[in-house]
Amino acid sequence: MSKWLGSLFFLYLSLCHNSFAKDHVPVVIWNTNQVQGSVPSVSALQYITYPNFQAKYLASFKPNNILLFLQDALSIEDLTSHTSELHHIKEWMESGHSLFLPNVEDAAHLVHDLPSHGYNVVKLEHDAGLTLKQEDKNLVVVELPSTLTNPSRRRAMQKADEVMENVISKIGAQRDFTIIFTGSKPSVEQRNDQFETRLRVARSLQAAAEPIKGFHLANCTKMYLRKNITINLYKGNPPVFDKSVEIPENNAANEDTGDCQSDSAILMVKYNDVVLDGVTYKKAIFSFRFELKGGSWIVESVSASFDTILIRANYKLDTDMDWVPVGMSFACSEKFIFIGNDTLGSITKMDIVLEGFQVQSFQTLTRFDGAWDCVGFFTVPIWCGLLITLLLVIILTIGLFMLSDIKTMDRFDDPKGQPISVPSSE
Ligand SMILES: *[C@@H]1O[C@H](CO)[C@@H](O)[C@H](O)[C@H]1NC(C)=O
Ligand SMILES: *[C@@H]1O[C@H](CO)[C@@H](O)[C@H](O)[C@H]1NC(C)=O
Ligand SMILES: *[C@@H]1O[C@H](CO)[C@@H](O)[C@H](O)[C@H]1NC(C)=O
Repeated sequence: MSKWLGSLFFLYLSLCHNSFAKDHVPVVIWNTNQVQGSVPSVSALQYITYPNFQAKYLASFKPNNILLFLQDALSIEDLTSHTSELHHIKEWMESGHSLFLPNVEDAAHLVHDLPSHGYNVVKLEHDAGLTLKQEDKNLVVVELPSTLTNPSRRRAMQKADEVMENVISKIGAQRDFTIIFTGSKPSVEQRNDQFETRLRVARSLQAAAEPIKGFHLANCTKMYLRKNITINLYKGNPPVFDKSVEIPENNAANEDTGDCQSDSAILMVKYNDVVLDGVTYKKAIFSFRFELKGGSWIVESVSASFDTILIRANYKLDTDMDWVPVGMSFACSEKFIFIGNDTLGSITKMDIVLEGFQVQSFQTLTRFDGAWDCVGFFTVPIWCGLLITLLLVIILTIGLFMLSDIKTMDRFDDPKGQPISVPSSE
C-alpha cells in the first residue's frame, strides 16, 4: 500500500514538475476567411501541451496554409497590456474565426513538427517575395524583429504589429492563410528558480554597491538585524541594572568575518566607535556561535570583545531556543536576550538584546530560506480558540445526549375510541 502511494506521489511530482518546468507562451490564431465559429473553451489557467494544441486547437481551423509569426519572446502581459499597439491583431481576431490560448507549451515546435504532417516549410525573409509551390499544405514562417534589443516592450509590440500588417497586406491574399502569432519563449521569466537567481543577483549587486543596513554575512552564516543591538549594562555587586545602550547599525564596520566547520560556525559582526558608559571603543566585535547537531542548528552563545579587552564570556540565552532544521532560517520578532556575566571597567554585567532579527547558518546562499519562528504555534489566541471550541463541543454533546434520553409515550389517547383507563388498585 505505502509503496503504491509512494509511486503515485512520485508520478504526481513528476507530472507537476513537467508542467511547470517547460516554457509556456501565449498563442493567437485567426483566419479572417472563416466565419466566427465555436472554439473549444480555454481557461486562463489551463496549460496546453504541444500535441494537444496541434491536434485539438489548431486542427479546428482545418488549416492548409499557415502563416506563423514568431516573436523571440512573448508573454500574456505583452498581449493584454498593449492592446492599442496590437490593434491590427485585434481587428483580425474580431473579423474572423479566432482563438487565444494563454499558455501553450513550446508552441514554436510547430516549425519542426508540421513537416511530418505534410507541410512544406518556407521561411519568409523581410521584403523578399513569396513563391509558394502548388502544394497543398504550406507553413510560412516569419520571424518578427527581435524585441530583446528594444528597450521598450510597447515599442516592440507596435513594431511587431506593423510588420504583421505589412506582411499580411502583401501576401495574405495569395492563399487562405490561417495565421498564428506566438513566441519562442516567454518574455517574463516564469520559473521560480530563475526569478530567485535574478533576485539574488540583484541583491548581491546591491550588497556590493551599498550594504543593506543590518544585514551581516560571512561564510555560511547570515544575519539580519531589524533593530540596533541593545546592551543592558549593570553596575555594582551584586549587579543592578543601570541603563541600556544601543549599538547603531550605522557604525557597522561591514567587515564581518566568519568560520564554518562541520558542526559549528561563527559569525563575527564588527562595529566601529562603540560608546559604552562614556568610554569609546574603536572596535567592538560580537561573535555569534552556532552549533549543528543531528541536522538541526542553534544559536549557541554570543561573546563580545571591546578593543583589546577580550571578553570571552559566553552570553547564554535566557530562554531555550528551538533547534532549527538545516535549510531553514530562524526569525524572532520578540526580544531575544543573551545573559552575560563579565565585567568591563565599572560595568559588572552585560546582557545582549536582539529585537527583531533573522539568522541562518550552515547555508552559503546570500538569501534566507523559509523561517522558523521563535513564537511557537500554540499562541494564546490559538489556545483560547481551542478551549472555546472544546467547551462548545462539550455543551453540544451533553445536549444531544439529553435529547436522546427523552422518552416519548408509547400510547396516545384515541378521541373516538375508548379512553385509556389505567386500572389502579389501592
Ligand atoms: C570564510 O570567508 C573568508 C572570507 O570572507 C575566507 O577567507 C575564509 O577562508 C572562509 N572560511 C571558510 C572556513 O570558508
Ligand atoms: C539605531 O541607532 C541609531 C543611532 O542611535 C538611530 O538613529 C536609529 O534610528 C536606530 N535604529 C533603529 C532601528 O532603532
Ligand atoms: C560566567 O559564565 C561562565 C559560562 O557560563 C561560567 O563558567 C562562569 O563561572 C561565569 N562567571 C561568573 C562570575 O558567574
